[in-house]
Amino acid sequence: MTAADAVRARAGHEPVALGIVLGSGLGGLTAHVEEAVEIPYADLPGFPASGVSGHRGALALGWLGGARVALLAGRAHYYEHGDARAMRAPIETLARLDAEAVLLSNAAGSTRPAMGPGALMAIADHISFSGLNPLIGEVGDRRFVDMGEAYDPALRARLKAIDPDLHEGVYAWFSGPSFETPAEIRAATVLGADAVGMSTVPETILARYFGLRVAGVSVITNLAAGLGAAPLSHAQTKAEADRAAARFEALAMRFAEGFA
Ligand code: HPA
Repeated sequence: MTAADAVRARAGHEPVALGIVLGSGLGGLTAHVEEAVEIPYADLPGFPASGVSGHRGALALGWLGGARVALLAGRAHYYEHGDARAMRAPIETLARLDAEAVLLSNAAGSTRPAMGPGALMAIADHISFSGLNPLIGEVGDRRFVDMGEAYDPALRARLKAIDPDLHEGVYAWFSGPSFETPAEIRAATVLGADAVGMSTVPETILARYFGLRVAGVSVITNLAAGLGAAPLSHAQTKAEADRAAARFEALAMRFAEGFA
């Protein structure tokens, strides 16, 4: 049985329009899903066990803003087991459930002092600073995925129409789990990074591989290493994501309406 079959057996055959991957501390969106059917990742073949605090590890099927949605509350990261393909099964499952698009969210550090904690940034493009790729090991010509407009411009325009204060920028993926050094942040800034984080990029590549349109939103939880006064910590990431969660939730709900 595939994970998609398991989902249909529990939550019904209604096609999903939009998948949403919830980043650190952003799981609260699940509470807004109507007629929610929640399935622990442990019950879904191939799904990862997320061992990171702030990530629950459950798929929630239901209705948000009138659209049929599948929320991935909890993601697996490369840094947990050294596996860039950790989110392959969840992203493939969204495609098998007929999702047209996926909204990827994350908590991130900012390289721009004017885009501080609490800001939201629409991801316009990314840099795989880690040099990793989740498609290594795939076979066939489909693996040569075009990444020219990986973050769908039309979906990004919709996000900006909903929240005029939304920043826009480039997200750079560092493997983690240690935070970056100030020198790495200076390097990434020279290369064009506006935000840095430990996720999302492999999911975007997988989503494009499986034919999903991608929208991405970073919730800025801190200024990146060397730019702020305080040491960085996961506790701070979760606390700041919590503070910005209501704004992210409002944005995601309005965004979902576009898929009703
Ligand atoms: N770096 C990497 N990942 C992060 C950060 C950061 O500064 N903040 C939240 N997630």
